[in-house]
Amino acid sequence: MAITKFNEIAVKNNAINLALGFPDYVVHDVVTKALSNATLDSVINNQYTRGAGHPRLIKILSKIYSNLTNHWINPLTDIVITVGGYEAIFCGISSHVNTADEVIIIEPFFESSIRGSDWILDPKELRSKFSIKTKMIISNTPNNPIGKIYTYDELQMIAKLSIEFNTLVLVDEVYEWMIFDHNQHIRMSKARLLTPLQEAFAVGYEMEYERLNQNLSFRKQFARSLQDKRDLIVNMFSEVNTNAVIPEGGFFLIVDFSNIAKRVNLLQKKENQTTGNS
Ligand SMILES: Cc1ncc(COP(=O)(O)O)c(C=O)c1O
Repeated sequence: MAITKFNEIAVKNNAINLALGFPDYVVHDVVTKALSNATLDSVINNQYTRGAGHPRLIKILSKIYSNLTNHWINPLTDIVITVGGYEAIFCGISSHVNTADEVIIIEPFFESSIRGSDWILDPKELRSKFSIKTKMIISNTPNNPIGKIYTYDELQMIAKLSIEFNTLVLVDEVYEWMIFDHNQHIRMSKARLLTPLQEAFAVGYEMEYERLNQNLSFRKQFARSLQDKRDLIVNMFSEVNTNAVIPEGGFFLIVDFSNIAKRVNLLQKKENQTTGNS
């Protein structure tokens, strides 16, 4: 079921909606100031920019990711800026997948107490899904919803099968900077916004580039603050006898509430709602 459906059900049933989170932090002021400067100070920033991505932004992204992947990423040919992950995934699929092609999506997937790491890719099952019709496999690490970070061996397995079957790998790594504990995100891959926004993101990335591996890094600090929130909420769930899947990274938490469900007669509740009894 899509997450938006849960929002509707929560409103209808007057329930506290833990499925929908709201960020309780502001964007780093380097970016917000850069955005206001970009909008106010420059005529050029209020015009269309290069279609495939604002030059200043693609330049710094190329620098960062060439550095992180040890692989030269040409800013002009290897980077496309999209309006978020949804558009990137849509473009990736619609530009490559045709009728009768097959696409492998590893479950559980972004819609579209165990740990995230307890979910392991089964090599036999994975192989059995590949065929000559397989045009693409979508991998999402850190994963939404379980927060699993794929291991090197799992990514190798995907890579080898994809080479063997001539399959494209679409890698969704939107949570690449939200990594908890001592986990490490492994990049298998080596994101059109309005011009001022692209300019502002470029300024933010330029600042991050200088402190990429330092504790001062905004992304590192952000991951640490998210980890504290993860621990707090996991403990809250465990205190009420429910098991949360502890995410290794990312923004989401899955909770097994069957212990509580057993104590509530949901069927009775539903009947009362239809008859108007409380
Ligand atoms: C795994 C994953 N990929 C892509 C997206 C979409 O990202 P955006 O909001 O940038 O379109 C989301 C948003 O929740 C996501 O969780």
